[in-house]
Amino acid sequence: MTEVMAPVVALEDEELEQTLRPRRMSEFVGQQRVKDQLAIALEAAKARDEALDHVLLVGPPGLGKTSLAYIVREELGVGIRCVAGPALERKGDIAAILTGLERHDVLFIDEIHRLNRSIEEILYPALEDFRLDIVVGQGPAARTLTLDLPQFTLVGATTRTGLLTTPLRDRFGMTFRLEYYDASDLGTIVRRSARILDVTIEDDAADEIARRSRGTPRIANRILKRVRDVAQVKHDGVISNAVAREALVLFEVDEQGLERIDRELLGAIVDKFGGGPVGLSTLAVSLGEEPDTIEDVYEPYLLQLGFIQRTPRGRVVTELGRAHVGAFAARRDDQLF
Ligand SMILES: Nc1ncnc2c1ncn2[C@@H]1O[C@H](COP(=O)(O)OP(=O)(O)O)[C@@H](O)[C@H]1O
Ligand SMILES: [Mg+2]
Repeated sequence: MTEVMAPVVALEDEELEQTLRPRRMSEFVGQQRVKDQLAIALEAAKARDEALDHVLLVGPPGLGKTSLAYIVREELGVGIRCVAGPALERKGDIAAILTGLERHDVLFIDEIHRLNRSIEEILYPALEDFRLDIVVGQGPAARTLTLDLPQFTLVGATTRTGLLTTPLRDRFGMTFRLEYYDASDLGTIVRRSARILDVTIEDDAADEIARRSRGTPRIANRILKRVRDVAQVKHDGVISNAVAREALVLFEVDEQGLERIDRELLGAIVDKFGGGPVGLSTLAVSLGEEPDTIEDVYEPYLLQLGFIQRTPRGRVVTELGRAHVGAFAARRDDQLF
């Protein structure tokens, strides 16, 4: 499955992601409100022996959308079919998937905002009435065949709700917005992952990694893995705070959890565009990145930190953002980070 990935994630890490993925609701750390609401809906659906209402999961990459889709399936004890929105090209693709579903199954569509229009239109009656309308033949001879589908649950994942068409958005019974995790939840995630990976980590080291993970579990796990490498290769395998800090310097993750590309983004706005405003596409070209990647992966956390702002005329670096770039540049030569 393709997805927009945080810069620190490489494909080879997919296996690691599988190992560390929480399987049950009880293992899913944080996002308490989402878990509470989902747990009630799950219990009610099970008690009524109905399919769970369609669920839309919204949030930046790495916050647990895919994990939650699998958890829903696990908690319901049903099957799951996973597909990436852009991979559905022909009407036949979605028809085949829908007719292959079994009663109460979960259909997970990642990047659901990237579905093409004709596929979306097939989904509307499927979601509303569990019905598939197929047009057979062409021109005046064309007829519509209707197939009944089993009751199923669509779980859709997207980075921003604004990207969805209104008719599609309206067909979800529940929408959950995943927020960035606080350092304490991320610390719990790092400790849990360390246990699974069978590596010893000191408490303050877990907290350090948590603080620098941009509120994102996937990044926390990625950093943990790199820190583990440093601990093994250069030390005795135990992750102490000193080892964690050494690794973070090596991988250029600064105190705010920003990586080189984040700082380049801030630096570009300050140096090349006089602090902004600069349009997204201009900024993207100057960094050699896709506008979507900037908008979905880098910007949300910089906005959250208050380092940049979106204005009608483009992106602007704030005083805080400037201070961060400045402080970083000043310390470059003596003590990094
Ligand atoms: N709430 C959580 N508790 C524990 N681990 C989590 C949580 N959310 C995400 N993770 C970890 O982060 C990784 C990425 O999560 P994922 O569900 O793939 O995010 P998304 O689909 O939103 O990009 C998972 O493999 C898992 O290890
Ligand atoms: Mg995902």
